[in-house]
Amino acid sequence: MIIAVDGPAAAGKGTIARALARHFGYHFLDTGSLYRMVGLAVLRSGGDPADAWAAIAAARSLDPHGFQDYDLRTEAVGAAASQVAVVPEVRAALLDFQRSFARREPGAVLDGRDIGTVVCPEAEVKLFVTASAEVRARRRQAELGSPSYEEVLAEILARDERDSRRATAPLLPAADAVVIDTSAMGIEAAVQAAVEAANGRRGAKG
Ligand code: CDP
Repeated sequence: MIIAVDGPAAAGKGTIARALARHFGYHFLDTGSLYRMVGLAVLRSGGDPADAWAAIAAARSLDPHGFQDYDLRTEAVGAAASQVAVVPEVRAALLDFQRSFARREPGAVLDGRDIGTVVCPEAEVKLFVTASAEVRARRRQAELGSPSYEEVLAEILARDERDSRRATAPLLPAADAVVIDTSAMGIEAAVQAAVEAANGRRGAKG
C-alpha cells in the first residue's frame, strides 16, 4: 500500500503524512529532505545550487548521514533544494531510493511534489494538500521563528513558482488525487480529513 502526499511548501504535508503513517502503521519518507540534503551539500562545498553540474555531482554522491534536521529546515536550504530539484539528472539520481522505499511492507507514506505523478503513479491513495499562500507563510514563519512574515511569504511564493514551472516533474495534483485545502483547518481536522480520504480510497481499491 502506497500513500502519496503532494503539495506546495508549508501546506501541512509533512504533518499529515507523518500522522497517516502512524495511523496505518506504515513507513514514512519525507522526500523533500533528499532535495534539501543535495542543496545543502552544494552550499557546504562552496558551490552554487543553480549550477547544474554541482547539483548532479552532489546528488550522485549523496550520503544522508551527516545532515541534521535543524540544518535542513531553513528557508535558505529550501530555496537551494528547489534550485537543484529543477535538474532532471538530480531527480533521476534520487528516484530508485524513493521507489524502493515506497515498496516497503506493510505500506509507505511518501510526501513531496511529484509522488503521485512521477515517483509512484500506481499509489493506491493520492492526496494533494494545499492552503493559501498567506496561511502557509504564517505557518512557516512560526515554525522557523522568523521575524519577517513578508520575507517568508516572498520565499514561499518564489519556491512555488519554481516548483510549478519546471519542465521535469512539476508540482501538480495527480488527476486522481483527493485535494485537501487546510487553509481553515487546524492540525487535528486536517489529519482527520486525510485519514478519511485515505480510508475512502483504500476501501474503493480493495
Ligand atoms: O517542507 P516544504 O514543503 O517547505 O519543502 P520540502 O518538501 O522539504 O521540499 C523542498 C524542495 O524540494 C521543494 O521546494 C521542491 O523544489 C523540492 N522537492 C521536489 O522537487 N520533489 C519532491 N518530491 C520533494 C521536494
